[in-house]
Amino acid sequence: MSLSDKISLSNELAIFKRKHRSNAERALASSAVFWFTIAFIGQLIFVLYIIGLYGVSLIEGDFERWNAMMPNGYTEGDIMGNINIGIHLFLAAVISLGGPLQIIPSLRKWFPTFHRWNGRIYIFTAVVISLTGFYLTWIRGSIGGLIGDVAITINGVLIILFAMIAIRYAMDRKLAIHRKWALRLFMVVSGVWFFRVGFMFWMLIHQKPVGFDPVTFQGPFLTFLNFAQYLLPLLLLEIYFWAKEKSGNMGKLAVASLVSIFALITAIGIFGATMGMWLPNLIH
Ligand code: HEM
Repeated sequence: MSLSDKISLSNELAIFKRKHRSNAERALASSAVFWFTIAFIGQLIFVLYIIGLYGVSLIEGDFERWNAMMPNGYTEGDIMGNINIGIHLFLAAVISLGGPLQIIPSLRKWFPTFHRWNGRIYIFTAVVISLTGFYLTWIRGSIGGLIGDVAITINGVLIILFAMIAIRYAMDRKLAIHRKWALRLFMVVSGVWFFRVGFMFWMLIHQKPVGFDPVTFQGPFLTFLNFAQYLLPLLLLEIYFWAKEKSGNMGKLAVASLVSIFALITAIGIFGATMGMWLPNLIH
């Protein structure tokens, strides 16, 4: 083989490798878009549920309906507690709508002012919703027991911590690292939503309570879910970062498959939560 043949062969090999690599990269990016689209729809349904149940009953003055999904939602005479849950629920709608909008790249690119203001509101909301959550957990009391209380408190601490880190990097104009922390923040903020989606996925599979007591709302499965609601999505996100930045084609394709499976599980969980939890509370 002549030298020019060898050069042309090695060029073709390089083009083939690049093409192959970009296919793997494309598969990884598509899996992320696939998951995010499903999650976006699921979070919008969650927002509709919050407005439809809590917002509408506030307008109608029917505060008893706040207890449809929580034992200690509205308590007659407990002004501080009621204000806390009111703020918490209002901010739950704001953050579940603002979070996904913050992540969409084209919105970030074409409407930078919206991105900046939505980002400020998002960070403020993340901190205040966690503080009201601490009050509801430790002063007013919730179902789920001590392990559930500790798990959701760690979730709240991570939300505040990641919010501070994300805004710090944005202010320093270190945008690549800011984006990574903003995604981590989105995952921990979505922990509460992941809990509901994961719970209803489990219920759809088993068709009855398995691994927990439906009266006390405690048991090994719920202990797992209390922590998994934010640790599992965070782990997956780190695996995704690794695949995107460091792995070869095989790694990228493997992680793209993992993310796609996670997207399907999320879709099934959203379907379960919508039919079993959110829609029935909207229609009354
Ligand atoms: C950051 C995102 C959060 C969202 C979107 C959110 C959303 C909600 C919603 C919608 C409810 C009403 C229950 C329902 O209708 O399903 C609720 C209740 C509650 N939330 Fe949050 N929450 C968030 C974070 C937190 C955090 C960080 C904590 C604790 C530190 C917390 C503690 C509570 C407690 C104790 C209740 C009362 C439920 C019960 O009685 O068990 N939340 N939250």
